[in-house]
Amino acid sequence: MNDLEQLTRRFGIPGVLRFEQLPGNLAVIRVESALATASVMLQGAQVIGYQPRGERPLIWLSSRSRYVAGKSVRGGVPICWPWFGPHATDPALPAHGFARMVEWHLRQALTLPDDRVRLEFDLPQDAAMRAQWRYPSSVRVTITIGRELEVSLATKNVGSEGFPLGQALHTYFQVSDVRCISIRGLDGCAYLDKVGISARRRQQGPVTFTQETDRIYLDTGGACEILDPSTDRSLLITATGSRSTVVWNPWIEKAEKMGDFEVDGYLRMVCVESANAADDTVNLAPGQEHVLAAQYRLVGR
Ligand code: BG6
Repeated sequence: MNDLEQLTRRFGIPGVLRFEQLPGNLAVIRVESALATASVMLQGAQVIGYQPRGERPLIWLSSRSRYVAGKSVRGGVPICWPWFGPHATDPALPAHGFARMVEWHLRQALTLPDDRVRLEFDLPQDAAMRAQWRYPSSVRVTITIGRELEVSLATKNVGSEGFPLGQALHTYFQVSDVRCISIRGLDGCAYLDKVGISARRRQQGPVTFTQETDRIYLDTGGACEILDPSTDRSLLITATGSRSTVVWNPWIEKAEKMGDFEVDGYLRMVCVESANAADDTVNLAPGQEHVLAAQYRLVGR
C-alpha cells in the first residue's frame, strides 16, 4: 500500500475528501463539500486553493509554482513559523522559518455537523526541527473549510525557557488587477516600509498599489477588507492573536527575478498577512500557548 492509499484509508471521506499526488511526490488533500472546494498540501499544511460554492476563488496560486519537497510553493497560505523574514542572527536559515517546507502530520480530518470540513495538522518534532529551533514547542494548524476559510496556528511552549515567536499566515489573495484594488482597515497605522532603504511611515487612507509594496503594519486591529471594483463583494480578513499585518506585492522586476511568477502574475495577487513580526514578535513563556488565527470571507458591499 502506498502513502496515498494509507492516507485515504485513514482520513478519506467518500465524496468529500480525497488525496492526490502533486509533482515532487507531494500529497494534496482535495476537499469538495456542499459549501466549498479547497486543496491543502501536507507539506507546510499549506492551503493552495479555496473557493466557496458559487463564488470566485479567493486564493491565488502561481501557475509557475515549483512542486519540490523541501521548497515552499508560491501562492496559497504559506505558514511562516517560528520567525518572520530573515532569521535574526543566522542568514543560513531559511527566510520565514522552516514550517512551510516540511511535511506536517495530518491528525484528523472530519466533516462538522454544519458540513464544514476540518483538518488538523501537527508539526513533526523531529531532528530536522530541533536542528533549526532549539525551543521545545508543540505546533498545531487547524483549517476549517466552509463558506469561510479559517486557518489557526497554535504554538505552545513545552520547554523550560521563554522564546521569541515570529509568525505569519502569508496568504496570497486572488484579485482582478492589483492596480485597481484597495485595502481598508490600516488607516493611521505605523508601518515599516521594506522597499529600498527601510523606513517607518504612517498609513493615510486605504492602501493602493502603484509599485513594489512590502510593509509590516504594526499594532494593527483585527480586520482588513480588500475591495476589488470588478466584483460586488469585498474580501474580509478577520484575525485574532495577530498584532501585525504584512502587505506585499513584488511588482514587475522582483516577480521576474523570483522565477516562479507567471508573466503579469503580480497583477493578479496581493498578500495580506496576519502576523506577529518585527516589533510585534510574541514572547512565549514556558507553558504558555499563543493562537494566531484568520478567517477569510466574501461579503456584500
Ligand atoms: C513577504 C515579505 O512577507 O514575503 C517579503 O515581506 C518577501 O519581503 C515575501 O519577499 C516573499 O517571501 P518568499 O520567501 O516566499 O519569497
